[in-house]
Amino acid sequence: MEYTFTQAEVQEIQKHVAKYPDRHSAIMPALWIAQEKFGWLSADAIKLVADTLDVPYARVYGVATFYTMYLKQDCPPNLIEVCTCFTCGECGGKERMAFLKDYLQTNEKGRSADGQFWIREAECLGACDTAPVGQISNRRFVHNLTDEKLRETIERLRRGEVLSFEAIPLNDQTPLG
Ligand code: FES
Repeated sequence: MEYTFTQAEVQEIQKHVAKYPDRHSAIMPALWIAQEKFGWLSADAIKLVADTLDVPYARVYGVATFYTMYLKQDCPPNLIEVCTCFTCGECGGKERMAFLKDYLQTNEKGRSADGQFWIREAECLGACDTAPVGQISNRRFVHNLTDEKLRETIERLRRGEVLSFEAIPLNDQTPLG
């Protein structure tokens, strides 16, 4: 794979650079653009971000490896995270994780046998009032998570549906939209 940004992507990154007094502040959005493009952040992708921003590789690597939303290995296309932190853990988060493991027959690394899904526990997602909370592919929140909502999400993704990642009201109790 060739690791380059298009002119439009470089311009997008430069817009982020222009927002801040220090270009290091644009590392996070630039990493996000790279992850969206390449699917995950290999050493080559991280180097591309560093070169594009003209900042040291080690600084970009440090950011990429600190935050869990940045993927440092090639992963199945659909990530399902369930918060099992304090509130969610008490409100069913751990049971939802158990359901996912069973429903997807995941291995010890949280990968499903069909290679389409992976699951992991998340720390507090900042929506404790609608616990338990899940997050799909680093974006879509699912509030008041139930096994039924998880099953619906998985089956829709299996059918190739593209879930809306638009912001939804925090107290939304409806199934996925
Ligand atoms: S504890 Fe789960 S969102 Fe805060």
